[in-house]
Amino acid sequence: LESEIRARDLAREHVLITAGATREEIDPVRFISNRSSGRMGFALAEAARARGAQVTVIAGMTTAPEPYGVELVRVCSAEEMLRAVLERLPHATAFIAAAAVADYRPATRQAQKIKKTGARLTLELEPTPDILATVAARKHESLLVVGFAAETERVVEHARDKLERKGLDLVVANDVSQKGAGFDSETNIVTLVTRDGEESLPLMTKSEVAHRILDTVARLRKLARG
Ligand code: CTP
Ligand code: CA
Repeated sequence: LESEIRARDLAREHVLITAGATREEIDPVRFISNRSSGRMGFALAEAARARGAQVTVIAGMTTAPEPYGVELVRVCSAEEMLRAVLERLPHATAFIAAAAVADYRPATRQAQKIKKTGARLTLELEPTPDILATVAARKHESLLVVGFAAETERVVEHARDKLERKGLDLVVANDVSQKGAGFDSETNIVTLVTRDGEESLPLMTKSEVAHRILDTVARLRKLARG
C-alpha cells in the first residue's frame, strides 16, 4: 500500500512551513490582506507529521481548521513572518513557503485612524521582504526549499523562472485561473517543477497534493544523499 510505504519516511526531517495570509496594517483598524485560507499549508503540516516529521508552521490569517500535533506560531505581517522563519531556520531540514505573503505594504502605518474627508486618498505602498528568496539565499547544504507559484498564464514557464531565480529545489505551480485551484479552495491543480523535470497532477484534494509534494521532497532527499 502506498500509504504504508510513505509511513514515517520523513522521520528525520524537521519541516518549516509558512501558511495563510499576511496582514499589513494601514492604521489601527484597517489592513491589506488576501483570500488565502491556509488550507494548503495546514494540509502539508498534517501530512508531514503523519509521515514522522517534526513540523513547525508559521501562520498568518487563516480560516481553515488548525493542524493537529504540530508547533503553530501566529504572526501578522510579512516582516514578522520573516523574523519567525529565520529564528527557526537553523533547526529545519526543509522549508515550504505555502503562505500568501503580501507583496506590498503601506509605506507608513498611520498611528491614528484615517478620517474620511470626501476627497480622494492615495495609499503609498512599498515592497515587503521576499521570505522564500531570503531563505533560499542563506540556505545551508542540506536544506530543501520549496515554493509555490500562483500564476494565471504560462504557468510552468513562470514557475521554472521562479525556481531558477530564487534557487529553489521545487516549485509547486498553481494555475489560479482554473476552477478548483488555488486560493480559498478545497482542491488544487498543480504541476511540480524541479530541476530535473516536471509532473502535472490532476485535480485532487489539498491533502493529496500535500502528500505528492512530500513524495518529491523525499525523492530529492534521497538524490542529495546519493
Ligand atoms: N513569497 C514569500 N514572500 C513574499 C512573497 C512570496 O515567501 N514576500 C513566497 C510564497 O509563499 C510562494 C512564492 O514566494 O511560495 C511565490 O509567490 P508568488 O506570489 O507566486 O510569487 P512572487 O515571487 O511574489 O511573484 P509574483 O507575485 O509577481 O508572481
Ligand atoms: Ca506574490
